Amino acid sequence: MSVLSGAALVLGIESSCDETGAAVVDASGVVRSDVVRSQVALHSPFGGVVPELASRDHVRNLAPVVIEALARAKLTLDQVDAVAVTNRPGLVGALLVGVQAAKGLAWAAGKPLYGVDHLVGHLLSVFLRREGEAARPPPEYPFVCLVASGGHTALYRVDGPQPGDITELGATRDDAAGEAFDKVGKLLGLGYPGGPRIDALAAEGHAEAVVLPRPMKGSLEFSFSGLKTSVAARVAKDGVPEGQALKDLCASFQAVVTGALADKLVRAAEQEGVAHVVLGGGVAANRELRARVATLASERGLVAHVPSLASCTDNAAMIAYAGAMRAAREPPDGWDLVATSATVLPRRTRKGRGAR
Ligand code: KG4
Ligand code: ZN
Repeated sequence: MSVLSGAALVLGIESSCDETGAAVVDASGVVRSDVVRSQVALHSPFGGVVPELASRDHVRNLAPVVIEALARAKLTLDQVDAVAVTNRPGLVGALLVGVQAAKGLAWAAGKPLYGVDHLVGHLLSVFLRREGEAARPPPEYPFVCLVASGGHTALYRVDGPQPGDITELGATRDDAAGEAFDKVGKLLGLGYPGGPRIDALAAEGHAEAVVLPRPMKGSLEFSFSGLKTSVAARVAKDGVPEGQALKDLCASFQAVVTGALADKLVRAAEQEGVAHVVLGGGVAANRELRARVATLASERGLVAHVPSLASCTDNAAMIAYAGAMRAAREPPDGWDLVATSATVLPRRTRKGRGAR
């Protein structure tokens, strides 16, 4: 059943973690507005996201963010065709705020409601067309996508835009890549989030200076917690390095993480026999990762797609687009739509150690 046309406008809402977002996107991926309110400053003193504070801040910010997204798109709620909301995976209290708001808006305006899996949003964010991006060709299905963020790190084969078209090829057994950046950043006294600060310091460091473990070689799974423990052990023994030694440690750590991510993305594409590779998630902001993927892909004759930064980090535009894809094929969700911490995508990698 096709309920929405290609010109349909979808209001998307995102509140799964520490960004409150609302956006209006059409079903061809053109972004009419995209408003993100980050909670980084709120959580920064704690060195990570505090779930209860996140929920309360979403409650405060959701209505203003939705009003601003509609205003920037020069639309009223009556003029959108559907409401899409992240209902999984994420912090349940945070998700609930968005889900309840979306239900209220959809019910009051008489619009269809679509729940969206946040990971499907990341996997499709490469199709968003922001200002100045009209000329960038989208990837062809099937493609392989790496989602690397603070909460998730996994490789997927994507044969189409519906959850049933998406297969996990391998994921992290422990920490997400962004979580590893943030934990190492905290160990090195760099504040939260550590990713961008390590990225900046690494640019002036020597990646060969410190030898660190390279876990899960030869597999499409990842493991970053041993790497973090190895940095922690160095810091416990020698103290937090300063000056050039700090830059060298950041460069060495970043080289191991981005090397594993880029190598496995390309290896997964070759294993699956697909020509297009895609990056998504906040860690895709990392300059070394972007460069490694571009270089490796061109060496192997693959086409690399790296979406704009605004599309990689958490945003509601990707949720609106994924909602539009669902709406083109499926009837709306009911008012009993629930928020849940688990992804709808079948998982191949199991968390934790032990025999497989
Ligand atoms: O996708 P995102 O905005 O939110 C989540 O869903 O987690 O990703 C945030 C993560 C954080 O862990 C942050 O440290 C990391 O992305 N990150 C980076 C960089 N910029 C953000 N990691 C490495 N290098 C960066 N330049
Ligand atoms: Zn995310």
